[in-house]
Amino acid sequence: MCGIVGFVGTEPAAPIMIEGLRRLEYRGYDSAGVVVIDGGRLKLAKTKGYVEALSKIIDGGEKLPGCVGIGHTRWATHGQPTDENAHPHISDGGKIAVVHNGIIENYARLREFLISKGFTFRSETDTEVAVNLIQFFYNDGGGLLKAVASAARRMEGSYALGILCEDFPDMLIATKKESPLVLGIGDGCNYLASDVAAILSHTRDVYKIDDDELAVLTAGEIKLYSSELDEITKTPEHVDWDLSAAEKGGYEHFMIKEIMEQPEAVRKTVSPRIIDGKAVLDELDIPDEYIRGLSRIYVVGCGTAFYVGAAAKYNLEKLTRIPTEAVMASEFRYSSPIVDASTLVICISQSGSTADTIAAMREAKRLGAKVLSVVNVMGSVIAEESDWTMYTWAGPEICVASTKAYSTQLAVTYLIALRFAEARGTIGGAEYAAIVEELKALPEKMQTLLTRRENIQYLASLYYNRKDVFFIGRNVDYAASLEGSLKLKEISYIHSEAYAAGELKHGPIALIEQGTLVIAVATYGRLIDKTVSNAVEVKSRGALILGIAAESGAETIARVADNVITIPDVHELLLPSLAVVPLQLFAYYVALAGGREIDKPRNLAKSVTVE
Ligand code: AGP
Repeated sequence: MCGIVGFVGTEPAAPIMIEGLRRLEYRGYDSAGVVVIDGGRLKLAKTKGYVEALSKIIDGGEKLPGCVGIGHTRWATHGQPTDENAHPHISDGGKIAVVHNGIIENYARLREFLISKGFTFRSETDTEVAVNLIQFFYNDGGGLLKAVASAARRMEGSYALGILCEDFPDMLIATKKESPLVLGIGDGCNYLASDVAAILSHTRDVYKIDDDELAVLTAGEIKLYSSELDEITKTPEHVDWDLSAAEKGGYEHFMIKEIMEQPEAVRKTVSPRIIDGKAVLDELDIPDEYIRGLSRIYVVGCGTAFYVGAAAKYNLEKLTRIPTEAVMASEFRYSSPIVDASTLVICISQSGSTADTIAAMREAKRLGAKVLSVVNVMGSVIAEESDWTMYTWAGPEICVASTKAYSTQLAVTYLIALRFAEARGTIGGAEYAAIVEELKALPEKMQTLLTRRENIQYLASLYYNRKDVFFIGRNVDYAASLEGSLKLKEISYIHSEAYAAGELKHGPIALIEQGTLVIAVATYGRLIDKTVSNAVEVKSRGALILGIAAESGAETIARVADNVITIPDVHELLLPSLAVVPLQLFAYYVALAGGREIDKPRNLAKSVTVE
């Protein structure tokens, strides 16, 4: 996820870019840049760091005159946050400039092709492939718009592109696929932005462009085209949001926005890594002999990241047959863990800068283990110091309560499990193919769940004033319960615990009294009857039951539950990826009904960089 902004008019573009980029910093903040056309030439300024650093270099834009420009604030996916990798990128030959939000999945193949045609690359980014591909087609002489359309047809993945060319110094071109892009209609000027927040202080009238459509912006007009380059017409929309709502994509909080982004985040994380039905983890470069020689895996993290480990334990163990343990990083570091060269430690961290996870990683390495990290922030300490790193492509997570990080981290663990299981010969072809298919379908199933959020809001309105809430579940449902309980307590401040359902009778059932809410997560078909029996036990002691079940098991839990939320059926190892969605929504709507400070809960920080 990155932020892009563009302007064409009769006043200097760079100050408008800087202002827009400041508003987009929540979409990415590891580097920033702008390019303008001045005197018929592209003039570029870009740097690693915040928009503020860029602003200093160009004196708020004053040092970069020119009335047409595009700007970018980056959240690194391909290549470290460096000056070279910062956008805008300029084509080999220096004529065309591009800003890009998204991930070009087939960039490696396109890069090879372009190198074979004589193109030289200066960065590690997928975006430089886009700009050179446009240049490649432009060299054919069919015109810039045609070149953009031809390049777009060859790019797989997601993109929103803003494009400038020296040969057309009064014009911007834009196109998109599966990444957001709006066009702002000004008075004698026009804008483009990945988010209306960037241009809201200038205009509230926008065109939303659909996938594969193209736009040509000049100061006087915006022309829209289909992918076949037929001119099309659209009715502009008027945006009423205030600035803060606009930053949140019209949602009331970053948390709900980030919950809603999960299908896209999971798709971006998974789909580039599934090629011809196989989990292809090129970035890991782990030899098969090493995988075959593993005797133990620890999954280490804190909070939500640890609960990803709790769920991953089931899929890693089941598929690879390697004994796997999820351990809190704060415990791991001081526990003299049994670790040697045949141990793999998987460190999970959104920020890559959590103090305990860093210490656990270093301890594991000191003891001779290899570390594979699953991290969201590129260039972070954990990403840099690990032997292997797999990035989740969730984009920045602003809300303190983690949601899309959980979903993308868990999705990565499925890919690791598949890759390892294949190397060890512990998975049959049919099961492998079934899981791959389910992984590909996961974003759509999450989307289905999200469309049912009103029902969850209604249920939250019934239960938001409880004093205690307990979550119960078995196996993968227990793992999802742990995360559901954390979400609820951290943003609603309601006391909440998660128990393995089979443990209830060994103590926790003493806490149940008339009206206690018990959320029974019973999606795991093999053990649904057992969990339902536990739900009956607490119900007969006065508890109210909210059941979470897969569609095929909904009737069973409905016999005992006061209310049931259903999730789509899915391969049993992937159940927590879906079960967690209603739990996140429930926590959100309970906190909303309770009037809580949702995005910044009391006492909590987004990154815990001290012990
Ligand atoms: C979860 O909602 C919290 N924000 C917290 O538990 C978080 O997951 C934990 O602090 C770990 O952070 P990390 O993923 O950045 O390492």
